[in-house]
Amino acid sequence: MAQYDVIVIGAGPGGYVAAIRCAQLGLKTACVEGRDTLGGTCLNVGCIPSKALLHASHNLHEAEHNFAKMGLKGAAPKVDWDQMKSYKSEVVEGNTKGIEFLFKKNKIDWLKGWGSIPEAGKVKVGDEVHEAKNIIVASGSEPSSIPGVEIDENLVVSSTGALDLPKIPKKMVVIGAGVIGLELGSVYQRLGTEVTVVEFLDKITPGMDGDIQKNFQKMLKKQGLNFIMGAAVQKVETTKSKAKVTYQLRKDQSEATLDADVVLVATGRKPYTDGLGLEALGVEMSPRGQIKTNSHWETNVKGIYAIGDAIDGPMLAHKAEDEGMAAAECIAGKHGHVNYDVIPGVIYTTPEVASVGKTEEQLKEEGRAYKVGKFPFMGNARAKAVHQGDGFVKLLVDAESDRILGCHIIGPAAGDLIHEICVGMEFGASAEDIALTCHAHPTFSEAVREAALACGDGAIHA
Ligand code: FAD
Ligand code: NAI
Repeated sequence: MAQYDVIVIGAGPGGYVAAIRCAQLGLKTACVEGRDTLGGTCLNVGCIPSKALLHASHNLHEAEHNFAKMGLKGAAPKVDWDQMKSYKSEVVEGNTKGIEFLFKKNKIDWLKGWGSIPEAGKVKVGDEVHEAKNIIVASGSEPSSIPGVEIDENLVVSSTGALDLPKIPKKMVVIGAGVIGLELGSVYQRLGTEVTVVEFLDKITPGMDGDIQKNFQKMLKKQGLNFIMGAAVQKVETTKSKAKVTYQLRKDQSEATLDADVVLVATGRKPYTDGLGLEALGVEMSPRGQIKTNSHWETNVKGIYAIGDAIDGPMLAHKAEDEGMAAAECIAGKHGHVNYDVIPGVIYTTPEVASVGKTEEQLKEEGRAYKVGKFPFMGNARAKAVHQGDGFVKLLVDAESDRILGCHIIGPAAGDLIHEICVGMEFGASAEDIALTCHAHPTFSEAVREAALACGDGAIHA
């Protein structure tokens, strides 16, 4: 029986990062993973493959819509779907192998198989029982469906099936206008599929700033995505090769149907904790199936910790990673910390959408006095030069102190630009701090500075 300081269950971004940090802090560490490859949902069937397909299909869109404008003439490339999927698989393999390398480098044992916790201090993998002073559960999440809709990963797919369809469908219905629905819906729309997104609420991307929701939907519509809003999907029926989606409009209860070759169910994900034995151990869970933890990521059972998608909070890879590092530090007797107020969210469509901190709606609800500094990418020379002038930076700051409370960006490289604001918020920066910082010209990031200037005496190029 092997003995460890820490055994991590699950090798997604939460688990593998926790394992690496534990090893770096001198703890003898193992990580249990039941998949054939490391990296979890994110590297295998989430962030990474979806970004590969977004990248490839974005390039096609550029070739079809913008190349000729720049004097690059000729037929737009033809799509070789099998090759595109091979490219995606290579990207995934490169990344998952990279984690294997990091495990070896940090002397972390990969215990292959599905783990369970027969009692605190013990982890069972296959027939072997290993001892661990501390256990970190990082078992992640799985797709969740809605009543009347059964995912068969054939005609009715989750994101996992949608990343690996045998052919590009002619018609796709996406249930849910959240992050998965819009990212993968965009991929297929660019590849020529007629995509219709059916959303229960009246706005896309629930929880985002209202200005972003409105403009984002307008831009996606312009690109060719169809939306049916305020519609509750009742059921999906399938024949051998077709699916029929029945939905009810919430405003008048009228029912209608849509035909599709493929239906993508993107109505959220739920924590995955099956087979771990948490119930028998008496580990407290929330009504939504999340493992409950204290501020040190420890559950009510001493020595058992939990992080990532399996616990409360946004289901994001970087949130899981941060918790992984912080939990490892707490176990090693250090002061692990995650600032949940400054976790950015990014949607990797074109244009990208990025946000951090409070939305304008939240500030209104809190009754807080705030200022808005907004700057359109149309006023940014670099964005205009590359035909990406759609969108804006919106900065929300405290009316009195000028301190940054939130930022919402829709436009080129939004997912990278947001981090200037994240760092600023960590340091308690004001809009003036950003406005007084020299930004290189011509860069997209000048739009962030201009939004900060707009919180004071005014943007220059607006
Ligand atoms: P996971 O990544 O789910 O990893 C958990 C691992 O634990 C899995 O490999 C599982 O096999 C293993 N496991 C579970 N139980 C056991 C057991 N008993 N024994 C052994 N192993 C076990 N987030 C972003 O931040 N950016 C993105 O761009 C992004 N894109 C996404 C795209 C898609 C299509 C999807 C589905 C998700 C995306 N996410 C994205 C979300 C992101 O993937 C998750 O937030 C992240 O993977 C959570 O990390 P985790 O370590 O908590 O769990
Ligand atoms: P989501 O929670 O983002 O969106 C689900 C959507 O489905 C919501 O808009 C909801 O109103 C709608 N919905 C729910 N029930 C419905 C019904 N009956 N009919 C019609 N619409 C319905 O969930 P999603 O997109 O599945 O993503 C899951 C998780 O994965 C998210 O929490 C996200 O954080 C993560 N993710 C992150 C990415 C990123 O960071 N770029 C990319 C992809 C996923």
